[in-house]
Amino acid sequence: MYDAPYRVSAPAQITESPGTHTEKPMTAPSVPTVPNVDREILREAIQEEYEVVAREPQRGFHFHTGRPLAEILGYQTEWLDGLPEGSIESFAGTGNPFSLGTLAHGERVVDIGCGAGIDSLIAAGMVGPEGAVIGVDMTPSMLEKAQAGVRDLDHVEFRLGFGEELPVPDGWADVVISNGVVNLMPDKHEAFTEMARVLKPGGRIQIGDILVDRPVPENAKEKIELWTG
Ligand SMILES: C[S@@+](CC[C@H](N)C(=O)[O-])C[C@H]1O[C@@H](n2cnc3c(N)ncnc32)[C@H](O)[C@@H]1O
Repeated sequence: MYDAPYRVSAPAQITESPGTHTEKPMTAPSVPTVPNVDREILREAIQEEYEVVAREPQRGFHFHTGRPLAEILGYQTEWLDGLPEGSIESFAGTGNPFSLGTLAHGERVVDIGCGAGIDSLIAAGMVGPEGAVIGVDMTPSMLEKAQAGVRDLDHVEFRLGFGEELPVPDGWADVVISNGVVNLMPDKHEAFTEMARVLKPGGRIQIGDILVDRPVPENAKEKIELWTG
């Protein structure tokens, strides 16, 4: 099993509420501090690591991958039925976004850090041809594998890009999914602001990721090898 702290799937809902009254004064939510890490160097290190997961999935990593991982995370066999082996073998998620609920027919989905495309392709099956899926990843080899898995589906597409600057129009999506990627983005506030930008009002976020239950020392956050390791 995993040696990392907690791997969870966390739901969140963005809603337009009609304005509720409360006796207590509202306090503004605090914005998390951004770790002192060079984002470009971090991105290069992450890309290097996931290039290998894409090109040599059998090499063996300090994390689980592929079909055995999908099984551990509770992916239903029928979700994987008919998916290309290339997308399955390079699966490297940390949770199961669909454990929070399956997606509805006709929904529009953005998959942030889609990797080799397994969640995007599962989502494409759930939303059907009336829906649409855009998978975004910054690692070219991962995207090539994802692209190869599209085959004759014309309601799923993969775009090269960053989670912090999604190549997706404002208010396009009903749901944002992501699996194992938020933990790799140093500026969490920026990451969630960008998710909110691409969501329609009332849209939702279904994330599988890693949570730690105690503060991480600031100097540890500066070590690139701890982000990728
Ligand atoms: C742990 S893997 C998970 C991949 C995929 N979600 C899955 O479940 O197999 C992390 C992926 O996130 C991508 N990634 C990491 N940081 C990113 C960022 N800032 N923007 C876009 N993609 C990113 C990596 O290229 C890699 O493919």
